[in-house]
Amino acid sequence: MSSDAKQSYRVTPVRRVGGAIRVPGDKSISHRALMLGAIASGQTNVSGFLASADCLATMTAMRALGVRIEQTGAHEVRVTGAGLGGLRASAAPLDMGNAGTAMRLSMGLLCGQSFSSTLIGDASLMQRPMERVAKPLRLMGARIDTRDGRPPVVLHGGAPLRGIEYELPMASAQVKSALLLAGLSAAGTTRVTEPAPTRDHTERMLAGFGVRVQRDGASVALKGGQALRGTAIQVPGDFSSAAFFIVAGCLAATDGLTIERVGINPTRTGLLDMLRLMGACVHIKELPDAAGPEPLADITVQASALRGAVIPPELVPLAIDELPVLFIAAACAEGETVVTGAGELRVKESDRLAAMAAGLAAIGVRCELLPDGIRIQGGPLRGGRIDSHGDHRIAMRASDAIEIDDVANVATSFPGFPAAARAVGLQLAEAGAA
Ligand code: S3P
Repeated sequence: MSSDAKQSYRVTPVRRVGGAIRVPGDKSISHRALMLGAIASGQTNVSGFLASADCLATMTAMRALGVRIEQTGAHEVRVTGAGLGGLRASAAPLDMGNAGTAMRLSMGLLCGQSFSSTLIGDASLMQRPMERVAKPLRLMGARIDTRDGRPPVVLHGGAPLRGIEYELPMASAQVKSALLLAGLSAAGTTRVTEPAPTRDHTERMLAGFGVRVQRDGASVALKGGQALRGTAIQVPGDFSSAAFFIVAGCLAATDGLTIERVGINPTRTGLLDMLRLMGACVHIKELPDAAGPEPLADITVQASALRGAVIPPELVPLAIDELPVLFIAAACAEGETVVTGAGELRVKESDRLAAMAAGLAAIGVRCELLPDGIRIQGGPLRGGRIDSHGDHRIAMRASDAIEIDDVANVATSFPGFPAAARAVGLQLAEAGAA
């Protein structure tokens, strides 16, 4: 998501941050609420919805498939479900913008339909691997074309699906979710086994729509033919957006910084375990009015002297979108931090390992890129200029005196980020065209 006249941030050092803040709704859960609401019967009312560019791409796509979706408030959406068999062909290709989740989950949702669909996206998404989803869906009977493994993805309608047992070769919630969504219209049972736990929002939300989902250790299974019933969904604050403030607080909140009403699903909070290993002071106050199947908390962090750590690889899938900001914590810690088992970062909205290594080097941090990770020496940061590579998770690393280029992409996941950052004391100025 970059434009010719590129937006940038200029971040000036501050001594402290603090106060209390709320972050926008969870992106993964917002996408899923639209998609499951679309194939349910009856109405689904979503509150706390993230109206970011990524989720609006999903909304536009669902509407193009004939689903009625009304925005009833700034963060409220009403979906009138069409039922699994009630979607209809879109007249034009479905444009998923920058959103990998929208594209991959839609592959599962649409490959068992009677009509054909074509999925496209922005320049970044058109370069991302789609065979990881297409391959197992073909084993289920789907007929799918990709271009050298990338979009456009053409899903040919009218292919009857059958359930499969599939062992995921990589830890990916998007692939797991696509297979479960396809499994809804498949004959028999679809069972997916993960090499490591990944976010389980799809499983939790399907259960909320009345679908029986069986978990058994590393496997999750469902029987095809089950109908979804519309429901109410309260979307918690996005832990991935909170992560920027969690790290900022660990570095500079002498009197504490609280991020309120954040989702703390344990498949998302690996960053907290990593920061605690580094000596961070984190307090979680779980809230009783949990967001349905998703646990919710106020998270308070306090400035602490961080030490470098060897990050256990099994934590990596539980913090996959937070690793760029963990690297900032590592750069500000004393000693060396080593992250391995993070090869998946190379196929995100950018090659996040390479983008972060280049960005860290630009501000004077010594780091060594590893094939599946990074080794970072903590030490003083100097000012500099960083390219976000059009990637929202790279651009929001506001912790020191830096120019960050090409930040329009931040709107894909966190509209209002600059104002939120300023509210807790960061000095962040914006420049360039919106
Ligand atoms: C997501 C899963 C993760 C994550 C992405 C959102 C989801 O991707 O990085 O931002 O909503 O299922 P992978 O499944 O590729 O790990």
